[in-house]
This record gives sequence, C-alpha cells and structure tokens, in this order.
Amino acid sequence: MKRDKTLAWTPPATIDFTGKKIAIVGGTGGIGRALAHQFAAKGAQIIVVGRTFRDEGIAGINPLLADLSKMKEAERVGQTLPAEELDILLFTTGIFADYVRQETADGLEQDVAIGYLNRLVILRNMGARLNQPRPDHKRPRVFIMGYPGTGRQAVIDDLNSEKSYARWTAHQNSVAGNEALVYDISKRYPNLDVFGLNPGFVQTDIRDEIFFKRGGLLNKIGYWITAFMTRTPEDYAQRVLPLFIVPELTGQSGKHFDKNGNAILPSNWVNDANCKELIRASEKLISRAGVCQESEVRD
Ligand SMILES: NC(=O)c1ccc[n+]([C@@H]2O[C@H](COP(=O)([O-])OP(=O)(O)OC[C@H]3O[C@@H](n4cnc5c(N)ncnc54)[C@H](OP(=O)(O)O)[C@@H]3O)[C@@H](O)[C@H]2O)c1
Repeated sequence: MKRDKTLAWTPPATIDFTGKKIAIVGGTGGIGRALAHQFAAKGAQIIVVGRTFRDEGIAGINPLLADLSKMKEAERVGQTLPAEELDILLFTTGIFADYVRQETADGLEQDVAIGYLNRLVILRNMGARLNQPRPDHKRPRVFIMGYPGTGRQAVIDDLNSEKSYARWTAHQNSVAGNEALVYDISKRYPNLDVFGLNPGFVQTDIRDEIFFKRGGLLNKIGYWITAFMTRTPEDYAQRVLPLFIVPELTGQSGKHFDKNGNAILPSNWVNDANCKELIRASEKLISRAGVCQESEVRD
C-alpha cells in the first residue's frame, strides 16, 4: 500500500463524541463492536446493526437487528436508519468466503452479499437523505471498511462467482466492490464525506475463517502464528478513533486510511470507467433481489 502524502492529520489530545449520532452496520461484533464501545465511552449515541446484540446494558448502544445476507433486509435498514440525524455511518459487516460456494436466499455468493452488496443497497436507500445540506453546514462522514489500496480487482463479468468459484477470488470481489463504492459515493453525494478503511490484520472471527477449517488443528496453528502479526480490535479502534472526528478530513471525500490511520492511495485500477462498470454489475445483481433498479446507476 502506498502512502497518500497529500493528507496529514494530527490526533487531538482528547476526543469527545458527546452528542454525536453514529450508526455502525456490523457493530454487533469484531472491529465494529470495539469501535462502538469506544464511541459510547466518549459520549456518543450508537445504533449497531447485525444479527446478534451482545451489548445489552451498555449506555448509548442500541440494536437494529437484521440479517444482511438478504437484500430486502438491507433495504429495510437503509430506510430505517435516521440518515438526516447521523454524524457518522460506518460499515464493518463481513465474512470470508467458504471453501465451497455458498449462496444466499437471493442467489448471491455469500461473501459478496454480506461483505459488499448490502452496503450498496443501504447507501442507495439513505444516500439522498444523508446528502441533504444541513442547517449547521456539517457534513456527515461515511466510513467503508474493507481492504482498499491493495490492488485487488473484481471479476466483473462473474461477480457472483457463477461461472467459476475460488474463495480468494470471491473475497477479492467484495474488497474491490467496496473500493469502487467509496469512489462512487464520493462522486454521487457532494454534501457528505466518504472514506475507505483498511484495518490490516485484526484478531476477530473473520480471521479465524481465513485459515483452514474452523476449529481444526491447522486453524489453531494458523491463528497462533498470526497472533504475533495482528492486533486486537480494541487496539485498532483506539488508534483510528480520532479519524472519525478530526476536522482535517472535512472535504477530503474519497480518501482511504491504513491500520494506523495514515492516508493511503487507492488501488491502481480505480478510475471513473472501472468503478462505473463494477457498480453497474453490482446494481444488476442486487436488482435480482428486487431492490434498487439498474436505472439508479450514476451517469
Ligand atoms: N479482521 C481482519 O483482519 C480484517 C482484515 C481486513 C479487512 N477486514 C474487514 O473489516 C470488517 C470487519 O471485520 P471483522 O474482522 O470485525 O469481522 P467479524 O469479527 O467477523 O465481524 C463481522 C460483523 O459482521 C456481522 N455480520 C456477519 N454476517 C452478517 C449477516 N448475515 N447479517 C448481519 N450482520 C452480519 C457480524 O454481526 P453478527 O455476529 O451480529 O451477525 C459482525 O458484527 C470487514 O469488512 C472485513 O472485511 C477485517
């Protein structure tokens, strides 16, 4: 990953999220949950979206339960979240593709559905409301977590892995989709700022899915070896927390940040034509589930 030297920011000595309204799609587990805890400890009101609420009793954290493998559920989430009031919208749902192609109820390859397409549906359903100019001139911030800046391209003519399937390729389709989504949202909505986040390797359930069969000996060995190269979700959350609030990012829509919160360059393939083509293929897929018609593609 190459550093983006056009943007530097300084972490403030103290951070206060009092009064901030935040939605974390994927905030019920892993990195999203660690961030929810830190936002809550600093005074924010947070809605976490996921299948299992694990933070009953923590002040400031409220659930919106949804199975985001289903595009209709993503549509409901997009229509339910209070876009006009949100200061920050963060996407952290994700899985790692299985050894054998798994299909959702909508006929979508599972990794691309849960790690990418539901985000597109949610943003199509709340983007216009998020983009409304606000009386206080504040710009909401949208953060899309994935693996940007690593050069991974999607297989655009087989985004759903129907012609052939390989788990790394399926995951790569999600990774590239999210990078294109940052680009697309930055062009589509001028009154908000959207950013990509690359957390590096973090000790969560998703990492457990990458190395061999879950629970097996090789999986345990892989987990043990990588423990030395990875950080906890809490460490990552603490390090990048200022990004969500520092004024230096205002108007810098489309930028990406690495595991330490440093600005990084997008992948080489990211340009207007490639992103449009990938978003168009994605719109085609989600329209199969009866949500967001193809006509909504940006001209
Ligand atoms: N960890 C890493 O090393 C790493 C590296 C690079 C990129 N990333 C990216 O970072 C993001 C966060 O990953 P993570 O490591 O925090 O993963 P994680 O610990 O597995 O958490 C994933 C989150 O996604 C939610 N989720 C999964 N399936 C869902 C479904 N069908 N419907 C609704 N929610 C669902 C989970 O909520 P429930 O359990 O409530 O369903 C959980 O909140 C992902 O975008 C991932 O691709 C992670």
